[in-house]
Amino acid sequence: MKNELNAASKYLIYTYGCQMNVRDSETIAGLLENVGYVNGTLEDAELVVFNTCSVRHSAENKVYGKLGEVLALRRKRRPDMLIALGGCMAQLPEVRQRLKKMGVDVVFGTHNVHELPALIDMAQASQKPVCQVWEHEGTIIEPLPSIRKPGFSAFVNIMYGCNNFCSYCIVPYTRGRERSRLPSEIIREIKDLAAAGYREITLLGQNVNSYGRGLSEEVDFADLLLMVNNLEGIERIRFMTSHPKDISNKLLYVLAEGGKLCEHIHVPLQSGSNLILDRMNRGYSREHYLELVAKIREYIPGVAISSDLIVGFPGETEEDYLDTLDMVEKIRFDAAFTFMYSARSGTRAASMEKQIDIDDKKERLARLNKLQYQIATEINHQLEGRIDEVLVEGISKTDPEKLSARTRTNRIINFSGQKDLIGKLINVKITKAGTFSLFGEVI
Ligand code: SAH
Ligand code: SF4
Ligand code: F3S
Repeated sequence: MKNELNAASKYLIYTYGCQMNVRDSETIAGLLENVGYVNGTLEDAELVVFNTCSVRHSAENKVYGKLGEVLALRRKRRPDMLIALGGCMAQLPEVRQRLKKMGVDVVFGTHNVHELPALIDMAQASQKPVCQVWEHEGTIIEPLPSIRKPGFSAFVNIMYGCNNFCSYCIVPYTRGRERSRLPSEIIREIKDLAAAGYREITLLGQNVNSYGRGLSEEVDFADLLLMVNNLEGIERIRFMTSHPKDISNKLLYVLAEGGKLCEHIHVPLQSGSNLILDRMNRGYSREHYLELVAKIREYIPGVAISSDLIVGFPGETEEDYLDTLDMVEKIRFDAAFTFMYSARSGTRAASMEKQIDIDDKKERLARLNKLQYQIATEINHQLEGRIDEVLVEGISKTDPEKLSARTRTNRIINFSGQKDLIGKLINVKITKAGTFSLFGEVI
C-alpha cells in the first residue's frame, strides 16, 4: 500500500456482471478522476478496483481468479499497489471474510460507491485495510460524476434494487429494495447525454415495469418512456429488464408507437413449468406468459423478444424441463441467455430439497442451447435480403476490417464500410445470417 496519492496515479477497473455494474464502473471512474487519478493498465496502475457480481457461482469464481492474479503481481513486483473491491460480492458477509484474509485493501458496497475516494484515503493514511459496506440502501445519491465509455450508446439507471425476491436470486440482497429516480433527474441526464453526442440510450432497472412506485409524483414506466421519447438528439431508446408479471397494456400502447422506441423487449421466462415458476416465486404461469407474448407481438409488429432461462432449479424433473423446451419451441425467442441454476447462500432456493446434480444441469443446458441456437439461426435466416436501419457502433470485435452495428431489434450486424459511418443511423441489406450475428452491406 503506498503512502500518498500523487497527481499522476493511475487506476484500472475490472467490471463483472450486468449493465448495472457497467454503469457503476463509469461512476467509479468519475469519482476517481475527480480526485486526480488517470486511467491506466495493469502494468502501471497504482489502484486496481474490482466491481464484482455474485449472481452465479461462476461469476464469483471469475473474480477470485483475477483477484488472485493481481494479488500475486502485487506480492512479486508491485508492493505499492492498492486493491479495492466493490459491487455485489462485497454486500455478502461471507465474501467479506474471505477478502479480508486475501489482503484486499479497500472493500466497499453497492450502496456507498460515492465513498470510495474517502475510503482509499483512509486506507492510505492508516496503512490498514478498510471495509465499509452499508447493509441497506440509503436515499439515491446524485448527481455523481461519471466517465462514460466513449461511443454513441449510453446506459441510464431509472431505478435501483429489486423487491421481487425470486427464490434463486441474490440481487435483492446485494442491491437492496426498489427505488426509482425522479423523472427530472433522468431527463436531465439524458439531455446531457444528447448534448454530448450520444444517440441511443438504454434505460436500466431490475424490473423497469415497476418504475415510479414510491415516488410522490404519479408516474409510471410508460409515462417515462413518453417523456424520453420527446427529447431531441436521442434517436433510439431501449430498456431492460421487463418482468412478465408487470407489463401493462399502457406500456404496449406506447411501445407500439415505434419511432425512437426500438422493437425489442427482454422479458425473462426462467422456466416453462408452472410448478417451478411457482417455487421460483415468479408470480406468473406459462399460460400468462404465452398470452403476454401474443399480445406483445400483436401490438408491436416486427418485435424481437429475448429471454433468460434457468435449467436445473431444485426439484426440476425431466418433465418440468421438457416444459421449458416446449415453451422455447412454441415462442421461438429471437435470443435467450441460458443458465444452469447456481445455489446462492441466503436465498430460499439454496435450502430447497432435491438440488440437481451438476452433470444433469450440464446435459439440460446443452440440449436447451442446441434447440435455442437452431431457432435463432432459423429466425435470422428469414431476415436475409431485408433492409434494416442500423446504428453503427464501431469496428467489429470479430473482424477489424469490418464495422459493427445494431438493428432496432438488437441484432449485431457486421459489414464493410468507411469509418466515418460510426455513430450514424444507416440502412444496410442483410446478406447472411449466423446464430448470434448477421452480415450485411451498406446500400
Ligand atoms: N432483474 C432481471 C435480471 C437479474 S439477473 C430479471 O429479473 O430478469 C439476470 C439473470 O440471471 C436472471 O434473469 C436469471 O435468469 C439469472 N439468474 C439469477 N440468479 C441465478 C442463479 N442463482 N442461478 C442461475 N441463474 C440465475
Ligand atoms: Fe432477481 Fe427476480 Fe429481482 Fe430479477 S426480478 S433481480 S431475477 S429477484
Ligand atoms: Fe451481478 Fe449484481 Fe448485476 S449480482 S447481475 S452485478 S445486480
